[in-house]
Amino acid sequence: METTPERPPRRRIRIPHLQALKESGEAWPMLTTYDVHSAGIFDDAGIPVLLVGDSAANSVFGHETTIPITIEEMVPLVRAVTRSAKHALVVADLPFGSYQVSVEQAVGTAVRLMKEGRAHAVKLEGGRAFAPHITAVVNAGIPVMGHVGFTPQSEHRLGGYRVQGRGDTSTSVVADAHAVEDAGAFAVVLEMVADQVAKTVTGELRIPTVGIGAGPHTDGQVLVWTDMAGLGRGRVPSFVKRYADLAGALDAAATSFARDVRARRFPGAEHTFT
Ligand code: KIV
Repeated sequence: METTPERPPRRRIRIPHLQALKESGEAWPMLTTYDVHSAGIFDDAGIPVLLVGDSAANSVFGHETTIPITIEEMVPLVRAVTRSAKHALVVADLPFGSYQVSVEQAVGTAVRLMKEGRAHAVKLEGGRAFAPHITAVVNAGIPVMGHVGFTPQSEHRLGGYRVQGRGDTSTSVVADAHAVEDAGAFAVVLEMVADQVAKTVTGELRIPTVGIGAGPHTDGQVLVWTDMAGLGRGRVPSFVKRYADLAGALDAAATSFARDVRARRFPGAEHTFT
């Protein structure tokens, strides 16, 4: 049967598939998701990698930063996504404070996301300083996606949302990405990284890079789904492209529902048991 590039063959995506995409030069998409409906829709749409990001802190729980979300809040979101996604590789974020204390803590949290959330892999933020954590989690049999450049959990140390890798800091981003690869990660997110630095990293690393605000040269591209689909009503970063206006669609639906109820047009006969 012929398949289109938009709808790849239905099979469970595994890490070697991502590696093969890197080797063939084919770019791939990744989206965040935190619930059963969006996960099922993105899975059916052929998104190969779904990230249950700690951006749920903002997108689900309404916090200003990703710092407050806990592992107890993350696990049920991960479980909802893994119940729903039949083909995608599901990666779950280790939230702030659930891995920084020690390598043992990192392994313990990653195990929970795999065992209770049924994730297929985990992601954690940090470069050279977190190489031992990545290695320990990988040695426990758990695939790790790294995350370098702008790391939102460290936004207070980094002085806010700032592009990383400009000027003198470029060598630091490159060194962090190499450290993550050498520690055993299967892929690395580059967030808000100057595009030429992302290009260098993507060229130098054997593992795939996934960009968010890192320009066009990375192997994959990730967006927070509520930004991508226009569900959030706040400001979105300049690197986001909005592909839909879900907030507008929901507003229109809720307004029509309310109008029908007030005018006694809903429920109609077809919605009524006799
Ligand atoms: O939590 C998240 O959504 C992320 C992406 C920004 C990569 O880490």
